[in-house]
Amino acid sequence: RAQDVAAGERVFAQCRACHQVGETARNIVGPVLNGLFGRKAGTVEGYSYSPANKNSGLTWDEATFREYIKDPRAKMPGTKMIYAGLKDEQRITDLIAYLKQFDAS
Ligand code: HEM
Repeated sequence: RAQDVAAGERVFAQCRACHQVGETARNIVGPVLNGLFGRKAGTVEGYSYSPANKNSGLTWDEATFREYIKDPRAKMPGTKMIYAGLKDEQRITDLIAYLKQFDAS
């Protein structure tokens, strides 16, 4: 099926313990994820990244995000994000659709 924003919001429940999105979002355990796509990794103001994230040289687009979220520590060795990974392609597609709603602000 095509991308499904509502399903993506349900997937994002796994991320909410550590990440916020939307107008009132702030950095908590992890950085704000507004405006993710097109942004260089490790560049949210006021967030204290690991060197691994800050110096990864990645730019977040659909391809890099897909690889990363499947296995964060494989794509970005040394990251302090503790997340086993989301393997399901459809759920990743839905999650991307959800995240794309939130522009940088
Ligand atoms: C970093 C996404 C789950 C904690 C990041 C980054 C992304 C991301 C894209 C890099 C941001 C950047 O470079 O600006 C997600 C998504 C999740 C998820 C989509 C759910 C599917 C989690 C969970 C935790 C977490 C559950 C905490 C247990 C962190 C931390 C960082 C981070 C601490 C900073 C990593 C570092 O500096 O090495 N996350 N995350 N994330 N995330 Fe997550």
